[in-house]
Amino acid sequence: MYISETTAVNAPVSFRHKILIVEDDRGTSFLLCETLSREGYSIEQAFDGKKALELVSLRKFDLILLDLVIPGIDGIEICRQIRSDKRFNSVPILILTAKNDPLEKMEGFAAGANDYILKPFMLDEVIARVKAQFRIIELRHNLVASESRYRQVVEHSPDGILILSNNEKKEVLFANKRFSEIVENDACGNIAGISATEAAKRCDLFREILAGINDIENSSPPVTREAIVHSQPAPAIFLEVVVLPIINEDSCIETFQVIIRDITNRKRMEKAMTQAEKIHSLGILTAGIAHEINNPLTGISNAVQIMKKCELSKDRQTQMCEHVLSHIERIAKITREMSQFSKPYEAVSEKFSVSEVISNALMLVGFSPASNNIQFQWAPPTTESPILFGNKNQFQQVIFNLLINAVQSIEKIGTVNISLSVEKSFIVISISDTGCGIPENQLKKIFDPFFTTKRDWKGTGLGLAVSCKIVQAFNGTIDVESVEKKGSKFTIKIPSESKEKPHKKANTQ
Ligand SMILES: Nc1ncnc2c1ncn2[C@@H]1O[C@H](COP(=O)(O)OP(=O)(O)OP(=O)(O)O)[C@@H](O)[C@H]1O
Ligand SMILES: [Mg+2]
Repeated sequence: MYISETTAVNAPVSFRHKILIVEDDRGTSFLLCETLSREGYSIEQAFDGKKALELVSLRKFDLILLDLVIPGIDGIEICRQIRSDKRFNSVPILILTAKNDPLEKMEGFAAGANDYILKPFMLDEVIARVKAQFRIIELRHNLVASESRYRQVVEHSPDGILILSNNEKKEVLFANKRFSEIVENDACGNIAGISATEAAKRCDLFREILAGINDIENSSPPVTREAIVHSQPAPAIFLEVVVLPIINEDSCIETFQVIIRDITNRKRMEKAMTQAEKIHSLGILTAGIAHEINNPLTGISNAVQIMKKCELSKDRQTQMCEHVLSHIERIAKITREMSQFSKPYEAVSEKFSVSEVISNALMLVGFSPASNNIQFQWAPPTTESPILFGNKNQFQQVIFNLLINAVQSIEKIGTVNISLSVEKSFIVISISDTGCGIPENQLKKIFDPFFTTKRDWKGTGLGLAVSCKIVQAFNGTIDVESVEKKGSKFTIKIPSESKEKPHKKANTQ
């Protein structure tokens, strides 16, 4: 026998939670019903186990208050049956028991109860425990919603995202849709449930990921590498691979997060830009050669014509010959530097000390009369000098070119400062002067072949262009900072690892 009753009370909350009270003692049941209805809950009652299960299968309850000792099916069995049915097994169950028997409580929890209330109970305690359950539900709901939001963001990210365990095998803990798409196009195939070390045996991308994880030990994260995925018959995809460690509360690496980004378009653009730059440089170069060679040729031609037509005095003839020779020397200088510009690396590569090269170049510059009123500041490092592998003479020429430029920028007296250091994994050489400085609108042009402000035959405008080529062959860069009338600073940065392997050959234009 049962009474089922839905109490319609104006709930103070917008959503009225539905509670089922399963209690055979009618007095207790009605007391609970009245108290909880007043709190704004919608209540139904069952007075035996069979009806309780019937109601649970018909309606969706938000919480069940369940007496353990009831006619028919007992409370523990009801609990078990509810938990074994996935249609409603998440509903919180609060057990009402008259016995303070720990074994019985444990049996209740084992059957799936969330909490218990001892009889006789205080109504305030019942209310508090019911509210606590709804608070837990709300928090869990928020957590699930927030987790699902983040999962959506990660899952639908245009970048591939992978999480790897920090054990020896580097197991795949998570891979989003984009990551799986990319690797499925590669030789890697399905990565579900495999480890990165296993995948690396057949997939370049995973080899790069593992190399990135290794790099984390030697450099500060995130580590960025590049990989190519071949997805025949489609064109290859260029990927940027970013690896970063996820640190736990004990400051240990718990997992590795890998983000892969498709940079195919960027690569194509870079290639097109390099091509355009090459064509542009080629234009400047040919125009420059024609102009620079034409000038002395005109001078030679004029001189020879004069010598042919006119009877010249001995002195005048000598003067004319010297004139012709100086023009020839100029053409020779241009062709010499041009040949270095186009193929600067035919000489032997060797290991050399950067300090020694700087000292040699300084000594050579010292021979120039223009250096007389210049103070050179150079203190070689007290620790072991950095070593580079490559063409020592060419490298010395770079330092020489920069020093000569610095000297030539100083009109009367001034200072040239040279420093050498190793910063992170780069060898850094800087040459600064207190010379005339470079106007801002010329800064971009100074590395162009034949750009010179040294007229009257003093410069060919090839010094920096050649130096730049040589430094590029060492995988390095030259940067300039300058303030007009204050001075300039040229900084060469070369990866220190260049000392281990032969530098790459510079391409011809
Ligand atoms: N330290 C410097 N201070 C001021 N201007 C500089 C400095 N270094 C280079 N420049 C500017 O850059 C231009 C190009 O330098 P670059 O060394 O390529 O050619 P150049 O010195 O004119 O001729 P050369 O081929 O004989 O070296 C110079 O003409 C000058 O205007
Ligand atoms: Mg120069």
